[in-house]
Amino acid sequence: MSLLITNIGELFTNGTRHLTRDAAVVLDGERIAWVGAATEAPDADERIDAGGAAVLPGFVDSHAHLMFAGDRAPEFAARMAGEPYTGGGIRTTVGATRSASDQELRDNAGRLVREALRQGTTTIEIKSGYGLNVTDEARSLRIASEFTSETTFLGAHVVPAEYQGRADEYVGLICGPMLAAAAPYAKWVDVFVERGAFDEDQARNILECGKAMGLGLRLHGNQLGPGPGVQLAVEMDAASVDHCTHLSDADVDALASVTVACMCHEGWSRTVATLLPGAEFSTRSPYPDARRLLDAGVSLALATDCNPGSSYTSSMAFCIALAVREMRMTPAEAVRAATAGGAQSLRRDDIGVIQVGARADLLILDAPSHLHLAYRPGVPLIRTVISGGRVAFPTAINRMHDGVPL
Ligand code: NIG
Ligand code: FE
Repeated sequence: MSLLITNIGELFTNGTRHLTRDAAVVLDGERIAWVGAATEAPDADERIDAGGAAVLPGFVDSHAHLMFAGDRAPEFAARMAGEPYTGGGIRTTVGATRSASDQELRDNAGRLVREALRQGTTTIEIKSGYGLNVTDEARSLRIASEFTSETTFLGAHVVPAEYQGRADEYVGLICGPMLAAAAPYAKWVDVFVERGAFDEDQARNILECGKAMGLGLRLHGNQLGPGPGVQLAVEMDAASVDHCTHLSDADVDALASVTVACMCHEGWSRTVATLLPGAEFSTRSPYPDARRLLDAGVSLALATDCNPGSSYTSSMAFCIALAVREMRMTPAEAVRAATAGGAQSLRRDDIGVIQVGARADLLILDAPSHLHLAYRPGVPLIRTVISGGRVAFPTAINRMHDGVPL
């Protein structure tokens, strides 16, 4: 089936053809088949009149921890009353996750994936990391793989209580039986490199084991303080280093040194810096210095970090608004980071962009331009979500309910 979206007020492509009025797109099956001026658009089986609204690529949320049970609202309340965030609450969620049934984990992840989808997220990465034993890490990833192909093994989130004081033994478990059980369901391996989690040598070891099993590399680095995460990520050619809140000049130089020229005008960093401002918001911490990274030519992604501890949001639009207001990214830079940047951090060139041949994942806003995502924070501006060429939101039930025409 083909679908023509016409009367687009702004077509934010992330490609060479950013069209600012009277644009149209034709989708054919799961792919984008045509992009251009509405007056020249070919015919299609079905048509959506965007009514002058902005159209952009579906959001790519490249960092989310959705395999968990329970929540930590009291911990959030305590932080808002002045308690610092240390990551210590991760073990609370590990306890709840281990006690949950497969169906409870599936229902919770499904609820969050749907919540994200109706807010415009058409690709989501899902990490394990609240099982921290062979059985619970493997089942977390097995269930995650029901929702996405971008699954990440994070057995190296923290050292679980039963291995307290025996971190190296736990690293051995990760590199042996845990990775063997998890790898069939995982595309990526991730390590939380931080004081109180894993050090540089442990992280290098785990990443090498993951790589030997065919997994791509990602890291949590430099979140709570300065550390070796960023430079280790660059050294190991990780696809992404995430958080990047506390960076030295050498860290920024290292990221800039792996920015290579590409067909797109801005270049491309082998290791993308993924910024997660929802975590700074929810832990009341200083935000990363996005301008310093952008000025050095580093590619940025923006993602939610959705998890019950440090950032319980699934809203990419909220992260865009934070990036603009608090991190001084321009609205265009923030939207680009939330779409093409996320795609780069997953080493994908078929998403995050509106161009012929790309996956037909698109958003129609209830607004005339991408600026409104930051200009109107907290407002549900995603009118229509198209995923793989099909209208995923509003659903038929919503449409009947709200009287929103297709
Ligand atoms: O990315 N930093 C490590 N992991 C998560 C937080 C996990 C939690 O607090 O439950 C993060 O912020
Ligand atoms: Fe995270």
